[in-house]
Amino acid sequence: MIGVIGGGRMGAAIAQIFASDGCDVILVEPDGKTRAAIPARIAAICEARRQDDAASRVATRAAMDDELAGCALVIEAAPEKLELKQAIFERLSALCGPATILATNTSVIPVTDIGARASHPERVVGTHFWNPPYAVRLVEVVQTAATSPETVERTMALMARAGQMPVHVRRDVPGFIGNRLQHALKREAIALVQNGVCDAATVDFVIRNSFGARLGIMGTLEQSDLVGLNLTLDIHKVILSDLDRSTEPQKLLVDLVAAGKTGASAGEGFRTWNDEERAELQGRLDRALLPPRG
Ligand SMILES: NC(=O)c1ccc[n+]([C@@H]2O[C@H](COP(=O)([O-])OP(=O)(O)OC[C@H]3O[C@@H](n4cnc5c(N)ncnc54)[C@H](O)[C@@H]3O)[C@@H](O)[C@H]2O)c1
Repeated sequence: MIGVIGGGRMGAAIAQIFASDGCDVILVEPDGKTRAAIPARIAAICEARRQDDAASRVATRAAMDDELAGCALVIEAAPEKLELKQAIFERLSALCGPATILATNTSVIPVTDIGARASHPERVVGTHFWNPPYAVRLVEVVQTAATSPETVERTMALMARAGQMPVHVRRDVPGFIGNRLQHALKREAIALVQNGVCDAATVDFVIRNSFGARLGIMGTLEQSDLVGLNLTLDIHKVILSDLDRSTEPQKLLVDLVAAGKTGASAGEGFRTWNDEERAELQGRLDRALLPPRG
């Protein structure tokens, strides 16, 4: 049995993955409206993945209780707030026996901090899924200084069994691997726009039609190896000192958010959006990530 704490965007989709793999799942979601919508959301994901409806394997609950003691793994997918996650881990520690692995789906908060009030830190681990987890199957399994090797091994095995692609992150650094890389790129992208080098649409056009076109096939370090490391060395001697090194969120981003320009759902972010444009981009992404209908 698998436990999932928080039935929002990520939690419901994570529950679907394990339910479709044949596991019984307990999904804890305190918000009544969100909780009531979970069976339909799971059915919709199964339909999109052309799998049988697995909603009957997911038992929804309003609060955590000692039923969770029967879980091999409990994954927390509650809002990205440290204090809230610490309280959940403290409560899970009290409810679950030492055989239950306690995992967090945090995007960037150190797993060590989230598990600070857990009674068995050796069974606390990060499991960073990507959105949507059934289509982007990588899971970063994050080991803290206290996580036991056995916890890492069992977590990796459970992820692989459910059809995900686990990688072992050996140190608990904020953002793990993927988000560190993604946000290093985003920082430079924002700087290019802020400094008037080009507009936001041009940044994204360049990414999609240059190195981005290769990234799904060849990783960035493989690419350096392929062309020869001396080229990367020569380039770095010139460019590294000029790249953006902001250690705080950049002014352009802060100003946009302060003005309510928070992105596609607000009608404007780095660019302007209407509902059709938003739906068209989301549809294109879904078609690329999910298997085509037969
Ligand atoms: N959305 C993404 O793309 C993404 C990707 C990877 C990781 N994450 C991480 O996953 C976590 C969840 O993100 P999300 O996008 O699903 O958020 P969300 O807001 O969609 O879902 C969070 C859910 O947790 C519920 N909740 C609130 N308090 C709770 C409590 N005390 N106990 C149990 N549930 C509670 C909320 O009602 C909500 O339904 C965050 O840590 C986030 O950083 C998100």
